[in-house]
Amino acid sequence: MNVLEINTVTKRFGNLVAVRDVSLTVAKGELCAIIGPNGAGKTTFFNLISGYFPPTSGKIMFDGQDITRLSTHERVSRGMARTFQITEIFPELTVFENIRIAAEVAGGYRLRPWISRAEASKIHDNVETTLKLVALEAKADRLVGELAHGDQRAAEIAMALALKPHLLLLDEPTAGMGDQETYQITQLVRRLHRNDQYSIVLIEHDMRVVFNLADRICVLDQGRMLAQGTPQQIAANESVQAAYLGNAA
Ligand SMILES: Nc1ncnc2c1ncn2[C@@H]1O[C@H](COP(=O)(O)OP(=O)(O)OP(=O)(O)O)[C@@H](O)[C@H]1O
Ligand SMILES: [Mg+2]
Repeated sequence: MNVLEINTVTKRFGNLVAVRDVSLTVAKGELCAIIGPNGAGKTTFFNLISGYFPPTSGKIMFDGQDITRLSTHERVSRGMARTFQITEIFPELTVFENIRIAAEVAGGYRLRPWISRAEASKIHDNVETTLKLVALEAKADRLVGELAHGDQRAAEIAMALALKPHLLLLDEPTAGMGDQETYQITQLVRRLHRNDQYSIVLIEHDMRVVFNLADRICVLDQGRMLAQGTPQQIAANESVQAAYLGNAA
């Protein structure tokens, strides 16, 4: 079963074709990384997946349904979670409170004036489970604004997980991090994928992270899909080396 099926999507900005005829299939439980040089179209492609804007042409299926024209909000409610859009993280609230807000949104309780005891306990359970998933149980009562960068990122990912997504979209989760924190987040993403079977699409600049985590790597170059394959296949691909890895090294 495929979570995501993207069929020849193109996105034009005026004369510029940022994404050209790109197709991608993500199977349930798969971790697919998207790489490519600066300006390759990675963020644009991601925006097409999450619904930030519609493609100029092409089709996007999620869980077997056509979502090409759906808004980000409608995609989120169908189980597609993207970290930075959901994470209006509140630095002055605790980790627990932040995740609870996401859990309430997920349960559709956020705008309700009154929540029953049974509902409140369901939300509480979701928060506890999510805290465990990201290994922040011990820091549940800390203010997010006072956490180290890596823990803040873990809290952001937790907010996405509280939505119980079928697909998790991560746009450079280790951006701006030092080695220690990059390792922490890489291990977290690996656990979510390997132990908890999340389906994940990841944009990542850090090649160590990509080759460490991905089942499959998709290389974009000048808006086109240059290559797709396992980390071994991509590492051995000469056009990829020419377009990207050679420059990055
Ligand atoms: N909203 C927009 N309007 C016009 N052009 C855009 C827009 N967004 C992106 N572009 C252009 O589309 C091309 C692809 O950009 P995109 O940001 O998707 O690349 P990227 O692979 O994410 O690059 P980076 O590695 O620098 O993040 C670039 O030429 C960029 O200038
Ligand atoms: Mg980008």
